[in-house]
Amino acid sequence: MRIFSGIRPTGGLHIGNYLGAIKQWISLQESNECVFCIVDLHAITTPYDPKELQKNILDTTAVYLAAGINPEKSVIFVQSQVKEHAELAWLLGTITPMGELSRMTQFKDKSKQHKDYINAGLFTYPVLMASDILLYKGQAVPVGKDQEQHVELTRTIAKKFNQKFGKVFDEPETILPKTGAKIMSLTDPKRKMSKSDEPKSCISLFDSPEDITKKIMSAETDSGKDVIYNVTKKPGISNLLTIYSLLTDRPVKEIEKDFVGKGYGDFKKSLATVVVNYLEPFRRKQKELQTRDVYVKDILAKGASRARTIAETTMAEVRSKMGLA
Ligand code: TRP
Repeated sequence: MRIFSGIRPTGGLHIGNYLGAIKQWISLQESNECVFCIVDLHAITTPYDPKELQKNILDTTAVYLAAGINPEKSVIFVQSQVKEHAELAWLLGTITPMGELSRMTQFKDKSKQHKDYINAGLFTYPVLMASDILLYKGQAVPVGKDQEQHVELTRTIAKKFNQKFGKVFDEPETILPKTGAKIMSLTDPKRKMSKSDEPKSCISLFDSPEDITKKIMSAETDSGKDVIYNVTKKPGISNLLTIYSLLTDRPVKEIEKDFVGKGYGDFKKSLATVVVNYLEPFRRKQKELQTRDVYVKDILAKGASRARTIAETTMAEVRSKMGLA
């Protein structure tokens, strides 16, 4: 299968981003043709600092590489380096109903979040995302649950294009994380973990061991003292158990057993060790890659060149079907 996915280079990727998306890319990479994109054109639809963008792109690349994405096998590249994304987005915009775009919950959320930054690019964001996927004739898109609606819209657009102009695209399916796990905030386990909340609530992939330990030890827990998974009664402990389980690849039930008769403190100490060890390669890789700019840029240049080859072929087909060539 041809797999496509992307992440916005907004800086401060956290374990929620990692467990919700990137982790599953690694296993897909083994037996599929994967294209992984750093979607800078999407990142600029919300307020950002142009001086930080290149650094964030390199940091995101470091995360991809540290997580185990193999640039020899999968295509890793930066969206704006392949002009066809913007071109296809314009063309697909002409067959995307305004009504569909108005229904998108991410647009509604982001417009509320950034009231003085509601731009046309934010509104047509899902068309660009559809173009990302369809440009590579993506058949499956591993993303978090919040992006499901956009992939659905991508199917609608693909179907509409095929009906109107003749078959070019597959209708891609969503691949959701196996556990369906949403990682919640450490300080308010009823909300999703988000880097725009207070720093204590969120574990960045590049946090120092000291910070990780501090954040986990002070994470909001629940009344009682038993380490038991129960999202309604114990949202805090349940969230920590989910993280524990995903990072150790062990079922929650088994972890609960390890902590029978022990309290939250022991559990948190053990979790802190798990997280610190798990993230060690991320910190190491980021440090290493910070001194190897040329190497990283070379990976991205090669990736863009491989991506361009596919993108140009699709665009030739699209232009011809639409009567533009
Ligand atoms: N919209 C996605 C997000 O916010 C990022 C993204 C852009 C993406 N283009 C994509 C994800 C294509 C998957 C496929 O997380």
